[in-house]
Amino acid sequence: NKGHYEHYMQKEINEQPESLTTTMRGRLILRGSSKSKSVLLGGLKDHLKTIRRSRRILFIGCGTSYNAALAARPILEELTGIPVTMEIASDLLDRQGPIYREDTAVFVSQSGETHDTLVALQYALDNGALCVGITNTVGSAIARNTHCGVHINAGAEIGVASTKAYTSQIVVMAMLALAIGGDTLSNQARREAIIDGLFDLPNKVREVLKLDQEMKDLAKLLSAEQSLLVFGRGYNYATALEGALKVKEVALMHSEGILAGEMKHGPLALVDETLPIVVIATRDACFSKQQSVIQQLIARRGRLVVMCSKGDASSVSPSETVRVIEVPQVEDCLQPVINVVPLQLLAYHLTVLRGFNVDQPRNLAKSVTTQ
Ligand code: UD1
Ligand code: F6R
Repeated sequence: NKGHYEHYMQKEINEQPESLTTTMRGRLILRGSSKSKSVLLGGLKDHLKTIRRSRRILFIGCGTSYNAALAARPILEELTGIPVTMEIASDLLDRQGPIYREDTAVFVSQSGETHDTLVALQYALDNGALCVGITNTVGSAIARNTHCGVHINAGAEIGVASTKAYTSQIVVMAMLALAIGGDTLSNQARREAIIDGLFDLPNKVREVLKLDQEMKDLAKLLSAEQSLLVFGRGYNYATALEGALKVKEVALMHSEGILAGEMKHGPLALVDETLPIVVIATRDACFSKQQSVIQQLIARRGRLVVMCSKGDASSVSPSETVRVIEVPQVEDCLQPVINVVPLQLLAYHLTVLRGFNVDQPRNLAKSVTTQ
């Protein structure tokens, strides 16, 4: 049931304040008279000790689920101190990459039925790793075959393009980082800030959804283009990849997410006054580096759209030629949840304007259960 929406993708983008609330329900708790804040993931509590002792955490997934894990990787590394490596399921299998008993392998999948992810799960089980699932589908193959895990509880996702599952996956993995990281005096303030940020995140998503008309206007400007680049780094490298994936899969427009730190190692050659480029430059530890990227793109007459934190328009757009999207600022590790929303809306409006099928893009299936 699409309600008053025209497409499931549009409905699912707009219901993210509610899906995120459901994802967090019962899992963020205030403890004792001091009201100290903590995270409780029922599906993991008996396994946290083993996970904390592991030598490495591997994130394994495909497509959007891989991107969600990539978005959560920095906070997992920060709060746990355990090395985190990223694996696209098919590539791990192609290489037969080494996996050990001392590893924790985390399988991220909305459907819980993706063929490559399932085969990679079997491979990790055979190699003796602790296998953790993060899935939206209770009773799915990944939920059944992992040792433990977390249901993201985002509600059924019908549109082929994953939207609300992506943001709920990131939130679950941020909670995972808090749960594995445990309480120490030195990280208490950081943990509390993240938990407060999680409580307030649905409101901030509601706020960023108000950019709908602005993104529709931007889509009008870009609808006849051949190609769109998206530059991000740090917490928002994943946002660049995911924004580009949405644009290519539903709007059928070539789009590439680029790690901004790699700009001078090739992509800069593409820059001219015609190719549209989105640069994500919200406030975090990478902000000044992104400011310098913007300056270098402007110096090459790049056609820029900059996404920045509210109030930062003048810091990122020295010239009037740059179009700016201002988004609400949240705790840095949660910012990818906010920043992907305008890009989801852009992909949606581009698709409608270009006259393509929103909910069932050509050649794609919701769940890829074959090789
Ligand atoms: C569980 C209940 C939830 C109830 C809550 C009350 C289910 C599915 N969930 O939620 O309805 O409100 O307790 O405390 O009945 N698991 C895997 N692999 C996965 C995902 C999950 O093995 O990929 C396992 C978990 O380790 C856990 C079980 O499935 O044993 C349920 O996981 P989850 O729904 O996340 O647990 P709770 O949030 O505690
Ligand atoms: C993109 C998309 C795909 C899936 C991928 C993995 O919008 O939907 O890239 O993310 O096929 O699917 P799951 O998460 O079900 O394993």
